Amino acid sequence: MHSPSQLSAAPATGRDAFWMPFTANRRFKSVSQPLFVEADGMYYVRDDGKRVLDGIAGLWCVNAGHRRTEIVDAIAHAAYRLDYASSFQMGHPLAFEYAEALLDTAPAGFGQVFFSNSGSEAVDTALKIALAYHRARGEGQRVRLIGRERSYHGVGFGGLSVAGIGGQRKAFGNLLPFVDHLPSTYDRSQMAFSRGQPAWGAHLAEDLVRRIALHDPSTIAAVIVEPIAGSTGVLVPPVGYLERLREICDAHGILLIFDEVISGFGRVGDTFAATRLNVTPDLITSAKGLTNGAVPMGATFVRAPVYEALMQGSIDSIEFSHGYTYSGHPLACAAGLAALQIYRRENLFERARGLEAHWEKAAHELASRRGVLDIRNFGLLAAIDLAPWPGAPGKRGYDAHRRCLEAGVLIRAAGDTMLLSPPLIVTPEQIDTLFATLADALDANADGASA
Ligand SMILES: Cc1ncc(COP(=O)(O)O)c(C=O)c1O
Repeated sequence: MHSPSQLSAAPATGRDAFWMPFTANRRFKSVSQPLFVEADGMYYVRDDGKRVLDGIAGLWCVNAGHRRTEIVDAIAHAAYRLDYASSFQMGHPLAFEYAEALLDTAPAGFGQVFFSNSGSEAVDTALKIALAYHRARGEGQRVRLIGRERSYHGVGFGGLSVAGIGGQRKAFGNLLPFVDHLPSTYDRSQMAFSRGQPAWGAHLAEDLVRRIALHDPSTIAAVIVEPIAGSTGVLVPPVGYLERLREICDAHGILLIFDEVISGFGRVGDTFAATRLNVTPDLITSAKGLTNGAVPMGATFVRAPVYEALMQGSIDSIEFSHGYTYSGHPLACAAGLAALQIYRRENLFERARGLEAHWEKAAHELASRRGVLDIRNFGLLAAIDLAPWPGAPGKRGYDAHRRCLEAGVLIRAAGDTMLLSPPLIVTPEQIDTLFATLADALDANADGASA
C-alpha cells in the first residue's frame, strides 16, 4: 500500500478534478487505480480488461444485475419521447403509472408515493412529511425526531441529524435541533455470529419509552430506523424489537419511518423488510433497487391517513411545500417500471430468499479465519467484522478490499467491516467465489505485514 509521503503527493493520475464522494481522494488518486468501464450481469469490466465479480450490486442497488437490456431500452425510449417534464403543477403519464405500480408492491394501507432522486432525499422527504403531518393535525409542537445510533440515513441535513455515525457528523456542527437517538441494537458480547435475527435485544426498544418520558410524547413527531441497518454493518434487528417499536409509537401517536433504502426491493427476500418481518411502518423510504441503479431515484411511501391529513385547506393551495425539479423524472420512472417487470418475471425476490441458506452457510464458514470478530447475515446481506490492525483502524478492511479486487471480486469495506450484497441473480457458485476470495485475502495478510 502507500507510505505517508505518497499520500501527500500531488495526484499523479490526472484525476484531480473529480472530488470523489466518501473516498480517500488523495490515496485513490495517488496511484493509477483501475476504473470500471463496462458492466454486464454479475460482472464489471475494468479499463485493463479484467472482469470483476460484483459482490455488492454496485452499491447495494443493481439488484437484477448489470446492464439489463429491457431497462436500457425503456430509458432510451422514454428519452426519445419525452426527455423531461416537471411534476410541479403539471405532469406526465409515467410518474402516475410508476407510482401505481409501486403501491402494488407496498404493504396494505399505503396510498401514495413521493418521488425524489436519492435515498438522502427520500429520507428528508419522509422527515418533512412527518413534521407537516402533525402540524396539519394541530399538533405542530411535535417537532422532535428520534433516530438511532449506528444508523445511516444519507447526507442531507435531516438524514444526517437523525443518523447515528459520529464520524460523519462531526465536521458539520450541530445539525437539526430537537433530535434524539435510541441505542444501537448491536452488542457483540451478546449476539456475535448470530444467523439472521439475534435472539437477544428486544428489550432495547424500551429505550424509546425512556426518551418519550424524558421529552414528553406530545413533542415527538417520528421515530426513524433502518429495519435492517445496511451500510453500518448489516445490523439485524433482534427478534421482537421492531414489533415493540411499533407498539410504543402507536401508543403515543408517533409516526414510525422505516428507511428501506437498502433493504427494499428484494435485498431481504421480499419487497421490503416491513413485509418480510411483518411490521408495518407509517412511511417507507426507498431508493436503491428502484431503477436497478440505472437512473437516480428515491421514493417515499406514505400510508393513506398521513397523506389525507395533509390534504386540507383551499383546493388551490399547495398542501406540501416540497419537491425536486427531477421528482418523477420520465427516465427514472421508465427505468423503474422496467426494473419492476424484471423483478416480477424472474421472481428475483423469491430467488433471493431461496439462496439465503447457502449464503448464510458460506458467510459463516469464514468464522474460523484469523481476526474475524463477528459475521452477520440476513437476506442476501452479510457483514464480517475484522479486528483492526493496531493503530491503523480501517486499514485492514481496505487491504482486504484491494486484494479481492485484484483477485477479481468486488467487496466493500466500511472501516474494518467487509460488506457483501450481490445482485439477486447471483448463483450459488458465485456466492462461494465471493466468500472464498475474501477468505484468501484475509489469510494473505492476517497480521498486516504485507500491507
Ligand atoms: C439506509 C439508507 N438511507 C439513506 C441512504 C442514502 O442514499 P443516497 O446515497 O442515495 O442518498 C443510504 C445509502 O446508502 C442508506 O443505506
